[in-house]
Amino acid sequence: MARTKGDGRPAAAANAAGATGPRTIDRSVVDAGRLRARLAAVDERAAADPGVAVVVRAPGRVNLIGEHTDYNDGLVLPVAIDLEIRIALIPTEGRRVEIVLDATGERAGFDLDDIGERRGGFIDYVAGTAWAMHEAGLPTRGFRGLLASTLPQGSGLSSSAALELASAWALSPATDPAVDPVTLARICQRAENAYVGVACGLMDQFASSCGRADGAVLLDCRSLEHRAVALPLADHAVVVCHTGSERKLQASEYNARRAQCERAVAVLADRGLPVRALRDVSPAMLDGVRGVLDDETWRRCAHVVGEDLRVEETVAAFARGDLDAVGRLFAESHASLRDLYEVSSPELDALVEIAGNVPGVVASRMTGAGFGGCTINLVRRSAVEALARAVLADYPRRTGLVPRVLAVDPAAGAGIVRPSIR
Ligand code: GLA
Repeated sequence: MARTKGDGRPAAAANAAGATGPRTIDRSVVDAGRLRARLAAVDERAAADPGVAVVVRAPGRVNLIGEHTDYNDGLVLPVAIDLEIRIALIPTEGRRVEIVLDATGERAGFDLDDIGERRGGFIDYVAGTAWAMHEAGLPTRGFRGLLASTLPQGSGLSSSAALELASAWALSPATDPAVDPVTLARICQRAENAYVGVACGLMDQFASSCGRADGAVLLDCRSLEHRAVALPLADHAVVVCHTGSERKLQASEYNARRAQCERAVAVLADRGLPVRALRDVSPAMLDGVRGVLDDETWRRCAHVVGEDLRVEETVAAFARGDLDAVGRLFAESHASLRDLYEVSSPELDALVEIAGNVPGVVASRMTGAGFGGCTINLVRRSAVEALARAVLADYPRRTGLVPRVLAVDPAAGAGIVRPSIR
């Protein structure tokens, strides 16, 4: 779903800001209330229909820091957010999966015993998840479902991972998928890598599966060890600014970056260096191989090596309450993604610049794969309105696009909404 390409603005973005004009702040633009009401409507319909036995949900995510590090065995610090995908479903005796999209009425399906090749469209993420569950020896069931989403597609908030996790829960015949949440995330990553064909790392599926309602989760993508990281949310909000441009060239450029990292590792290992992934490269080692790698590849490596260190420093800064340091680290991360890894865009840079001029914005950077999508901002609660005002006033003038400003809350990982399990 998230990887569907397109050049136009998301319709919901145009509606959200366009209804009142970009200079007037519509409360629903800031608090995402209109989006959440749509989910509630789907839940109400499900509750009113005695045939609907189950509602499952899976959240999207923002990544605070640690970008393009996951597939280099590095560190990431995502937050699962309360923009999510829900599927209200009626399990069936048969092996057919049929899903209707609440937003458009589009209908698609497949047979669990004859999944076949990817077709294009949202159903690939469901079929791919079923395929990966079969490969992992997990049972699946047929169902008829209604799918609703508050996650803007193609915006770098992991709607595809959320769809995979929601699908895994919907497809599980028991009350849960019978594997731990990290294993389930890896199965969903396999769906995306091997069935959908995007060579993503584990971060998005991990966040959607293992997110916490009380903050961020630090994941070591080599050992898969993870732990909660508290955020200063009593007086700060996590605010997503959407460029209003869908990600372009995302899959091809993403796969190209990943291949560059892997080639660099092969070159360094050939020279006898103890390197299995860029995670193993220290800053000193990086200095020593400046002439060994071509300049572009070296800069890619420099981003990854620096970004892993920045994740550790950010976690330490949050622990000691040093938000100035968090702000500096976010700024360094954004500059590195822009100049060394070259995955930012003029729109993302504009949003970060605008946010940087608003007093009370503690930290701002692009989040996710890049090439469009969103920025993530840590903002004093008293300054959220001012940030929205600045973005809605300055950004359209600079880019001709309509932005969206969404204050989000951390959310728990994927699971069953109804019936509630105690
Ligand atoms: C996408 C991928 C993730 C990760 C980020 C960049 O979201 O799906 O695995 O690589 O890009 O950090």
